[in-house]
Amino acid sequence: MGMIALPHPPLRRSVLYVPGDRPRAIAKAETLAADAVIFDLEDAVAPGAKADARETIRAHFAAVPSSASERVIRINALSTSWGTEDLLAARAAMPDAILIPKADDVADVLAAADALDETDAPATVRLWAMIETPRGVLNASAIADLVNEPLSRLDCLVVGTNDLAKDAGIAGSTMRHNLHPWLMLIVLAAKAAGITVLDGVFNDHADTAGCVAECRQGAEMGFDGKTLIHPAQIAPANAAFAPDAEDVERAERLVAAFASNDNAGKGVIAFEGSMAELLHLKQAERLLARAAAAAQRERSERP
Ligand code: COA
Ligand code: MG
Repeated sequence: MGMIALPHPPLRRSVLYVPGDRPRAIAKAETLAADAVIFDLEDAVAPGAKADARETIRAHFAAVPSSASERVIRINALSTSWGTEDLLAARAAMPDAILIPKADDVADVLAAADALDETDAPATVRLWAMIETPRGVLNASAIADLVNEPLSRLDCLVVGTNDLAKDAGIAGSTMRHNLHPWLMLIVLAAKAAGITVLDGVFNDHADTAGCVAECRQGAEMGFDGKTLIHPAQIAPANAAFAPDAEDVERAERLVAAFASNDNAGKGVIAFEGSMAELLHLKQAERLLARAAAAAQRERSERP
């Protein structure tokens, strides 16, 4: 006991979008502390710039073949006129994952998986799916469950709050509040399937306090991380989605308490004035594993 050997989900606290047609921002993204970067061919790129963006991403991956961050390329939906060419370009770049936008149902994920199989893409090229349409929210559980189907390559759900609000007709200052039930439904679908799930973006990149608050809220809701649009949002997300020092110390004390001779073999103990069960021990071990992963990531970033 006390050893932290539990498998933990990949660290995806901060996941930064970068428009595929902005070489300067793409180069900068490699120097930042985001756990993952999404190179975008979809909505951040104007219709007239799609071909240019594909070439920019191709050249970038050729010039910088590996990265400290997980690398994801977001393509246009396969139902659009750009989708197939995007998928082929993305596959050629050999990212960690390809992000499918506007996934309505399992067929959208499986179509991309089939197309990747046809190119003999190695199994290491995963798929991430965006839940950002009303239909996608209704089917979130079935989509998340694809994680149990290795051929689907599914590895992560990403919420698209802007598209979801637009399609559902939700607007105004209470937008986030009104999205809440659906966000929690998507979180639940992801937890039931055991897959990571990322919160939508905070649009006002100049509002630091607002970003900090929304990152904390996303963490409390059960999201594993947040998608981001600006470098200034990375530090707040990395902090909010990693356990804080106080929680780590408490978890260490709890693990030690269960491991003590007095408590040997017990399923429930008195701990600092409240009840702790084995489920709390598991929770503490998971928290320590996440904290260790975050600390390791920070060490690897130091020059
Ligand atoms: N990724 C990497 N670098 C970024 C970045 C991003 N998403 N957003 C900004 N930067 C860089 C800029 O290139 C600039 O770098 P430089 O000083 O080397 O030139 C620096 O950060 C400061 O940028 P700033 O001037 O504050 O922002 P901007 O006006 O250039 O861009 C946005 C503002 C919102 C247009 C830009 O942040 C953006 O395009 N974000 C991503 C949008 C997106 O992908 N949306 C789709 C998914 S929702
Ligand atoms: Mg979208």
